Amino acid sequence: MTAPLIELNNGTHIPQIGLGTWPLNDDEVEQAVIAAAEAGYRHVDTARKYGNETGVGRGIRNSGVPREQMFVTTKLDGEHQGSDRALAGLDESLGRLGLDYVDLLLIHWPLPARGEFVSTWRTFERLLAEGKTRAIGVSNFKPAHLETLRAETSIVPAVNQVQLSPQIPRLDHRDYDAAHGIVTESWSPLGGSDGGLRSVPALAQIGEQYGKTPGQIVLRWHVQNGLVAIPKSKNPARMAENLDVFDFELSPADLLAIDQLAIGAEPGVDSDSVGH
Ligand SMILES: NC(=O)c1ccc[n+]([C@@H]2O[C@H](COP(=O)([O-])OP(=O)(O)OC[C@H]3O[C@@H](n4cnc5c(N)ncnc54)[C@H](OP(=O)(O)O)[C@@H]3O)[C@@H](O)[C@H]2O)c1
Repeated sequence: MTAPLIELNNGTHIPQIGLGTWPLNDDEVEQAVIAAAEAGYRHVDTARKYGNETGVGRGIRNSGVPREQMFVTTKLDGEHQGSDRALAGLDESLGRLGLDYVDLLLIHWPLPARGEFVSTWRTFERLLAEGKTRAIGVSNFKPAHLETLRAETSIVPAVNQVQLSPQIPRLDHRDYDAAHGIVTESWSPLGGSDGGLRSVPALAQIGEQYGKTPGQIVLRWHVQNGLVAIPKSKNPARMAENLDVFDFELSPADLLAIDQLAIGAEPGVDSDSVGH
């Protein structure tokens, strides 16, 4: 099974489900990428900050999947924001990955207090033109940060990757992204490692109707909301489970019931300490 593709605003395509790789180390991630490729994954999410780009690159090479069939995302960390540092940052990531280009390059956090995400974005525009990445995007950007980019730069981000799940639905981000042709990508799509979301009884009850697990119900919710999701698993059976969400459809009533799981206040997305 492979995930369907979603078209990005520059005509490139991203598989709707990808493999998250934080906090796997190089050796673990190499095995995970090989197993994921075997299960049908064609999309891997990493970041300079994860310290595992070398293992991701090894996994891709040893998976037997041709490089051009694997969609690879990496993210530039805060220390490499700024025009020249961003150039060096991507070069170093490509060196570790053993690749000539990535498919998607993201600014990992806006870090507005540093005031460098606009100059970094201009460098990203250049890297896109040079073919070192097939698409450029951002992560953990609020609509206000995206408005700043819109006012000061020329290319609209293809993707905004944010923490998003039925409990943290970020409707304001999704509305902004949809209005501007930006694909919203969900990190911690299964609610993260604490397992709280996956043990909500309503998800198990809905899952029984479809013969699916709570995790699959949550991922199907992302899919039917038009989101890209990058569930992380190092377990081949759970990886396969997470990709096996394209043979059923949640009813409108079930989608609405899952929407009710939203918690009130949503965590911020722009601090130094957020996310991985
Ligand atoms: N841009 C950012 O700032 C940012 C921040 C955080 C994360 N991310 C990215 O998003 C990815 C995913 O987020 P995440 O890892 O925080 O959370 P997640 O994918 O929502 O959840 C991962 C956890 O769920 C478990 N799991 C996976 N599939 C399962 C299943 N079918 N049933 C039961 N448990 C399952 C995993 O354990 P096992 O491995 O044992 O299966 C792991 O403990 C990361 O790996 C990273 O690539 C980006």
